[in-house]
Amino acid sequence: MQYTKSQELFARAKEYMSGGLNANGRNRKPHPIYMSKAQDAYVYDIDGNRFIDLIMGNGTLILGHNNQEFNELMQKYMLQNGNLVTGFDSKLSVDVAERFLRITGNERVRFTNTGTEAVLHILHIVRAATGRNKIAVMEGAYNGWYDAVYVNSFAPLSKVGSVDRPNSVPGTAGLDPKVVENTLVLPFNNIEASENLIREHKDELAAIILEPIMIDIGLVEASHKYIDFLRSICDELGIVLVFDELLTGFRVAPGGCQEYYNVRADLCMYGKAFANGYISAAVSGKAKFMDITAPGQTVAFLGTFNGHQLSICATAATLDLLESKNVVEKLNITTDNLCSEFNALAAGKGIPALMRGKGGHFQVYFMDKAPTNYREAAATNPVMYEHYVNSLQNNGVWCSQNPLSHHALSIKHDEKVVSEMLTAMDKALEAAAKAI
Ligand SMILES: Cc1ncc(COP(=O)(O)O)c(C=O)c1O
Repeated sequence: MQYTKSQELFARAKEYMSGGLNANGRNRKPHPIYMSKAQDAYVYDIDGNRFIDLIMGNGTLILGHNNQEFNELMQKYMLQNGNLVTGFDSKLSVDVAERFLRITGNERVRFTNTGTEAVLHILHIVRAATGRNKIAVMEGAYNGWYDAVYVNSFAPLSKVGSVDRPNSVPGTAGLDPKVVENTLVLPFNNIEASENLIREHKDELAAIILEPIMIDIGLVEASHKYIDFLRSICDELGIVLVFDELLTGFRVAPGGCQEYYNVRADLCMYGKAFANGYISAAVSGKAKFMDITAPGQTVAFLGTFNGHQLSICATAATLDLLESKNVVEKLNITTDNLCSEFNALAAGKGIPALMRGKGGHFQVYFMDKAPTNYREAAATNPVMYEHYVNSLQNNGVWCSQNPLSHHALSIKHDEKVVSEMLTAMDKALEAAAKAI
């Protein structure tokens, strides 16, 4: 494939935008690739190359690119909603909130714009509700880029410290060290070590925030025992349990990880799939925590674009299609089939590669045994992964170059697309094997 036009555009782009991009996660070696259009499961770059998109707006585009039925519903809702844009709530805001709560099983919701904003609201709520300052996150986790949670995210293994007591490694330069110090890092899936740390900090700990299925490091599931342990220790010690459902909500089950694990968190943050690529996120959970943000109560809840009416229309349209087309069920079946076929291919060739997937999210790890925490996931073979992804790109499949990132399917990744993917993956596995 030729990327001459992207290469030329990059030379211009970096004169105007730092790194030639608006988000570092879009960077690629040897240079970024610029896109020109997208349809269903496919994306086309400015050189005219066509790819099966396996990034799908970082998991947001659950209905696929430019989904016609979604577009028509979106238009219908915008007209019905009197072409409101922002600055007001409407009847549709209330209808969407009611449907959102019916699906998630929560008691209250307030819509924001990004997951990072949602976590900021949650930090205010949990500190105000408990009178404590510290929060705990999981080792390696990404819960947004705000200082208090951008700690130990994708940390280099050389800096993570001991297994039982991981270091609070800042996720970037420029974080406030006092805020970072107040973030405790827990070893995911390790009940004994987590319990010791939680008890040691019980008087300062306001909340534990986690993605119960850590999709941001590929796909690493918490055991049911670990989630039950967290629920019970939080109840015992008055700590707020927060599920980050940005990637799991409306995907691993309609009600996300709360449904999958049959456990109620106190608060959850959502985003991505429920608005099919439009800008929306949500803070949701128990009324006793949420209602302290109501006007006249103790915690402020502000934002020019909160509950933006375009996003509300997008959410209404997405929920219509998720429900009428059994999207979550179909995506789970497609993902399970993809994983079995891929794993059979790798096993047949004797290549140490395995695909882990759920709810339309998946990642391939180059190792023998499924990882159970960040350190194990980070041991994936980077050279094999690089050759695998480069081969996929050369064969028209668009993947992340980051071995610890995740991939996403949409409802438009049908049997034909999956079979095209598997043909490319077969070649990519050979390329990975040759790399070592
Ligand atoms: C699990 C998880 N939490 C939080 C965030 C932050 O969301 P946003 O990028 O909307 O700020 C992300 C984004 O990638 C995420 O994947």
